Amino acid sequence: MTSLDEYKKCWEAARRGGFYIASTTPSLVCQELSYYMELPGRVLDVGCGQGRNSIFFARMGYEVDAVDIIDAFPREYKEHGLIKFHNKDCREFEFEDSHYLSIVATRFLHHIDEPTVEKLLREWHRVLQLYGNLALSFAFFGEPFEKAGLPFYCHDPEKILALAEEIGFVVLIKKYVNKMPAGINRSRKKLGNSFEVIFRKK
Ligand SMILES: C[S@@+](CC[C@H](N)C(=O)[O-])C[C@H]1O[C@@H](n2cnc3c(N)ncnc32)[C@H](O)[C@@H]1O
Repeated sequence: MTSLDEYKKCWEAARRGGFYIASTTPSLVCQELSYYMELPGRVLDVGCGQGRNSIFFARMGYEVDAVDIIDAFPREYKEHGLIKFHNKDCREFEFEDSHYLSIVATRFLHHIDEPTVEKLLREWHRVLQLYGNLALSFAFFGEPFEKAGLPFYCHDPEKILALAEEIGFVVLIKKYVNKMPAGINRSRKKLGNSFEVIFRKK
């Protein structure tokens, strides 16, 4: 079994174990992003999980490409006319230039190593239309760690902002959020601090 197969198995196990805490409510940063968008347009949902954000944008009338390394996408929505689910590693997904009105990656970047984050940000900038938007949310911790085979990296939000600005994004909204009340459980406390940002391609 390759390490990629093992990685996928860990995500499958995490899903079965209830790791996808918000399976249906669209992420707040996506709800906010929707106010900056105007139909028609295409949305790319990277690391889409169970598709809560893809379904949200498709219901609004956007065409959605949803990408995830595992197939946790609800079958009824895979058939949805406006959604195309791609069971792929996002590092291999082929993007077309200036194709998307918006790209979203929620609760995702903290599972991706730093060099790959930089590559993805550059790719996402290329495939966004001019004035297109990129919405991110990610958790950050003191130290990187691994849990149940899944890596949790710690990306400093300020470094991500500086890198994105160097690549050619401007910030529309940024927020530091601590959503989790203390004492829920250990792993959730670790996920407590998160950062949400909406960039615009200039
Ligand atoms: C914590 S979940 C977040 C799901 C969704 N974005 C949400 O907010 O509900 C992270 C997702 O990223 C996916 N993922 C991790 N690494 C990936 C990769 N290299 N390419 C595509 N998807 C990946 C996992 O399978 C998982 O579904």
